[in-house]
Amino acid sequence: MNRTEVAGIGWAVAASDCAGGTDEAGESVADSKRVVVLASGNGSNLQALLDAGVEVVLVASDRPDAYALERGRLAGVDTAVVRPADHPDRRAFDRALRDLVAATRPDAVCLAGFMRVLGPEFVRAFPDRIVNTHPSLLPAFRGAHAVRDALAYGVRVSGCTVHLVDEEVDHGPVLFQAAVPVEDGDDEASLHERIKREEHRLLPVAVGLVASGRVRTDGRRAWLTAEVPGR
Ligand code: GRF
Repeated sequence: MNRTEVAGIGWAVAASDCAGGTDEAGESVADSKRVVVLASGNGSNLQALLDAGVEVVLVASDRPDAYALERGRLAGVDTAVVRPADHPDRRAFDRALRDLVAATRPDAVCLAGFMRVLGPEFVRAFPDRIVNTHPSLLPAFRGAHAVRDALAYGVRVSGCTVHLVDEEVDHGPVLFQAAVPVEDGDDEASLHERIKREEHRLLPVAVGLVASGRVRTDGRRAWLTAEVPGR
């Protein structure tokens, strides 16, 4: 198999494919695949996907007040809320979310600020097809307060990691990372804002590649294939 490391020399290939690029059949790679986005908050990463022309078929949230849902509605995308409180336990919540997402037959699932840990029943339903973005250079500062924790540690450089999701939190194979300097006087909001600018650039590229079936994994390594499956 012809393969290229995603985060290495594959970058140029990745960027050109997904920034309005076409595949061998002349079909648009980025906008012909079905993507489900899970989001709990503001949804600026969802917006970046929408603005890049990614075909989002469903925005689902665990929080009815998530502004991401409004962004989805404004873009004419179906939205849904699955509240943990409406389910007896985490497994039941995972199953409900899995069934909702699976019914849309997605090519990729994107966690864009989704603040729930997804259990194995969800993750196993979409192997190597779930993409997450995390606001630190993993494996540093996993968890829900990555930006705050990085500042508290006193790092001079942080960043973001766009990665495939496996059964451990903030852990799957890395697709892209970008470094972001910490500036004097930064607080959590200002640093997070600068990190998000990088997320908005990288996430649509990663989601486009995963949705197109162009990403394979080999242990912790993600590879970009030249072939588009089914052609
Ligand atoms: C992003 O920084 C993401 O890395 C983290 O939550 C934030 C979501 O931001 N998991 P938004 O809701 O997309 O604006």
